[in-house]
Amino acid sequence: MRLSQQQLRDLGTDGFLILPERFSPAEVAAIRGRLPRLFAQDSEANVIERHSGEVRTAMGLHLRDELFADLVRHPRLVEPALQVLQEPVYVQQVKVNVKAAFSGEVWQWHSDFATHHQEDGVMRPLALNLHILLDEVSEFNGPLYFLPGSHRDDEHPAWLDDETTSYPLWVTDLDRVSEIANKRGMVSATGRPGTVLIFHDTLLHGSPNNMSPWDRAIFSLIVNPVSNAFTAPTRPDHKHHRDLAAVEPLADDCLAGYVAAPAALSA
Ligand code: SIN
Ligand code: MN
Repeated sequence: MRLSQQQLRDLGTDGFLILPERFSPAEVAAIRGRLPRLFAQDSEANVIERHSGEVRTAMGLHLRDELFADLVRHPRLVEPALQVLQEPVYVQQVKVNVKAAFSGEVWQWHSDFATHHQEDGVMRPLALNLHILLDEVSEFNGPLYFLPGSHRDDEHPAWLDDETTSYPLWVTDLDRVSEIANKRGMVSATGRPGTVLIFHDTLLHGSPNNMSPWDRAIFSLIVNPVSNAFTAPTRPDHKHHRDLAAVEPLADDCLAGYVAAPAALSA
């Protein structure tokens, strides 16, 4: 899947793209179908919410499940990234952020680069975050909020917040968020299941608690140019993978083998 010239311009201007329903309902169902087994595993790559005991994020999924091993090479994710970056990329992080009904907790305002730089010694903000919405994401169940254009601002001052949630995060000063939001507004990344989000490493974003009765699972693949790899491999592998093998996209139908046959055909 290639991005149009207009989409490339929008990504450059706003720092993100929302691409409606790029994965089919059957493909999304196949992805979702792998989650109960993964969430039930006793793994340090499953991070549990501080208050509810539900899974908050399940990481390293391409090393734990064959569908995800293919999904990280899916051309509808990888080809746009290669088109934007114009150089080989490795799989930096692979996860599903769950945000369960009634209990999914906040992701504070942050840019991903703050963590990649401070924790992993990544030198340049080139990584791209590629999401697939696995549920309908609305204003009710904790959508991501983006600050358009914030990826082009000077570096955002950040500090490590290891108290607010169970996942330590380099977060952004709220005065900075106010200033930018008052200048250019805010966008909430809602959409039908199968919608793809692409955003830059320095884009400010966050998401509120899920107070609704509806789950909000989102798949996230972060890819980074091999030439811009970590210089401080201190975090566990599932937080920043050490394997720098260049990602080669698979065929567009690479999930077909995981998709259940329609009932009408098997009757
Ligand atoms: C979220 O899942 O709401 C936050 C994701 C992110 O920070 O990339
Ligand atoms: Mn983030």
